[in-house]
Amino acid sequence: MTTKKTLSRRELCKMGLIATVALPLNAHAQPANRMRPQRGDQIVFDGGDKAGQLISPEQLVLNAQPVAALARDPNSNEVRDGSRLNRIMVMRVDPETLSTPTRNNAAEGIIAYSAICTHTGCDITNWKADELHMACPCHESEFDIRDNGNVVGGPAPRPLAMLPLAIEDGELRVAGAFKGRVGFQQQF
Ligand code: FES
Repeated sequence: MTTKKTLSRRELCKMGLIATVALPLNAHAQPANRMRPQRGDQIVFDGGDKAGQLISPEQLVLNAQPVAALARDPNSNEVRDGSRLNRIMVMRVDPETLSTPTRNNAAEGIIAYSAICTHTGCDITNWKADELHMACPCHESEFDIRDNGNVVGGPAPRPLAMLPLAIEDGELRVAGAFKGRVGFQQQF
């Protein structure tokens, strides 16, 4: 004869507790598209008719206007477009003209910086072709791309964060986490 057992509230709570503890550690991890660019990520176009396509080193013309880009997980092909703080600008310059810290994070003269202005967070879309400076359309801050993204004009309080790059098997890859803080500090 079988006995039907009714679980007590206490027993149910215990089971609930066990279930909570047994959740995988990454159950609350950030979604892949919101994670900052990761080492080994590919670099793809952000916007335009090539959005999501790989940017090859050959597509970046020497001293031309920086290209809006994003990182992409090479395993899942997920583009890390879930946070605007992941936006980057990629460009190619003569590696001989780069300061040492900048050259150390560049790949054959190809460099990448955060696209978010350190002043109040506008997208840095302007380009001063003569000086090779990225420039912010909001309050005219300027950043020297050949020298660590340092501020050379305007109210921005700190350099742009740089994203280290490498070329592996002919492909552009992220070589490490952002150098410097991405984004801006709210001022009260
Ligand atoms: S937000 Fe870029 S200069 Fe103010």
